[in-house]
Amino acid sequence: MQDWYKNMSFYQIWIRSFADGNDDGIGDLLGVYDKLTYIKSLGVDGIWFSPLYPSPNADFGYDISDYKNIHPDYGTLSDFKRVLNRAHELGLKVIMDLVINHTSDEHPWFIESKKGGDDNPYKDYYIWRDGKGDKLPNNWESFFEGKAWEWCEERGQYYLHIFAKKQPDLNMDNPAVREEIKSIMRFWLDMGVDGFREDVINFISKVPGLPDGNPMLPVINGMPYFKDGPHIHEYLAEFRKVCEEYDCFQLGEGPMSDLKSVLLYTSGEHKSLDMMFNFDHMQADCFMTEYIQRPFSLRKLKRAFSKWQYGLYGKSWNALYIENHDHPRVVSRYGSEEFHRESATALAASYLFQQGTPFIYQGQEIGMTNIRLSSIDLYMDVSSKTNYSLYHLNDPEELRLARIHASSRDSARTPMQWDSSENAGFSRHKPWFYVNDNYTRINVASQEKDKNSILNFYRTCLNYRKRSRICRYGKYREFFADDPKIYTYEREYKGKSLLIICSFSDKEEVVRLPKKYRGRLGHVAICNYPDPEWGLLKPYEARVYETISNSERKNHEKN
Ligand code: GLC
Ligand code: CA
Repeated sequence: MQDWYKNMSFYQIWIRSFADGNDDGIGDLLGVYDKLTYIKSLGVDGIWFSPLYPSPNADFGYDISDYKNIHPDYGTLSDFKRVLNRAHELGLKVIMDLVINHTSDEHPWFIESKKGGDDNPYKDYYIWRDGKGDKLPNNWESFFEGKAWEWCEERGQYYLHIFAKKQPDLNMDNPAVREEIKSIMRFWLDMGVDGFREDVINFISKVPGLPDGNPMLPVINGMPYFKDGPHIHEYLAEFRKVCEEYDCFQLGEGPMSDLKSVLLYTSGEHKSLDMMFNFDHMQADCFMTEYIQRPFSLRKLKRAFSKWQYGLYGKSWNALYIENHDHPRVVSRYGSEEFHRESATALAASYLFQQGTPFIYQGQEIGMTNIRLSSIDLYMDVSSKTNYSLYHLNDPEELRLARIHASSRDSARTPMQWDSSENAGFSRHKPWFYVNDNYTRINVASQEKDKNSILNFYRTCLNYRKRSRICRYGKYREFFADDPKIYTYEREYKGKSLLIICSFSDKEEVVRLPKKYRGRLGHVAICNYPDPEWGLLKPYEARVYETISNSERKNHEKN
């Protein structure tokens, strides 16, 4: 497999809220088609589509009922091919979401499996167990909906779901299931897609016997028995073989993964993925999930960034992101809605110059912010609804709702804000979900016109990266790790370097230069303020210095 992905950056589309081409209030492939030149204009090189497949939408596409088709809300397979071909014409790669830990309970495999019966080929497609007396098969909890087991009257057994009840886990130990997965991969690769983002891929192999987890650990108690399970590398090797027949790449989503496990997946003899998303840097204002909040700490964010930059250098490759469809908007979390433009651009610079392949989530490039709906009934996301209904029941309503405001995945799922016309230019029909009220102020059209906008800052950074060998190959080093307000890092390659300084302060700060840079700073190549002042950083100022090597400087002085 080629490593073309190392020079690239990707734009993530969560189609339902991206652009509505037929004005029924729901984003679709026609809408995507019309926006392909916009996507190209950002300077990205590819698109990752969150699931486009038929789905009852219990988890908005991550509960699939047909892997080889397109959800009728979004169009048809031929609409998809049109998008794919046009994207390729524009030089954009396209990767699909591959969700194979579980299906929808409305998938025909599950409907068949529920029937049981010894000669039923689908009987063991899922993880079915009897109860233990009047107790559940084990004490695992699901991420989304209480206990991880659901009773099925028809079959007279429980099935495992580590996500929502409508997302039964597949039994990957069954070779027939693995054949199905390979056939799904071939289906899309034959059509011409360029790779996959593989959903919760480190969860697909479970420890035999499904032992009880530690009862003191809520929600994640089953984790030691389904994360990085005993056969995971064998199964991924089988899938890798399929991909090797094509020129494609594989990106795994790895919740709770650590350096050691990611290195096992992405390098050495077990290499079966090209890179992985980790979650460490998404916890700089929370524990484990955004629902359990703590104040934002830049130091925590920096520690997470540096851990992965140092940890994978020269061995593997990072997948860089600060937003996706699973997290509230980053400006509202780590930045400042007050210093909106400044903090959104500083956040961009904080990760776009790291080593790895960057992903930009729809709306991130204009600094879309969180929504704050007035009642839990207005939210759509299954995990927000569960968090609200299961935890903190005795707290005042205001506080319970504030937790949802700060944590809901719905904030990332509001319609894209294209312009200041009705429904933010997303659709002429009433959209399927709330449009953030601030669309008249925050939208693509207005930022197109402003050369200092967040949108244009993303373009500048992405285009710069593409041309820069330092960005691709350079070694990462962080300075002043203890500084609670400023993130300073360098990338160095063949004696040349970039020094990136990002302030996360809402006040002016003094510039602190690493010793080695004193007296050898080159010019400011990129800055989110029009005229950077020597020695002083304005609120959320971010600058990228290009520096010259010592030998170059000496030559320069000689001449
Ligand atoms: C991944 C997806 C998320 C989904 C979950 C279950 O984390 O990104 O949206 O809810 O897996 O499929
Ligand atoms: Ca539509």
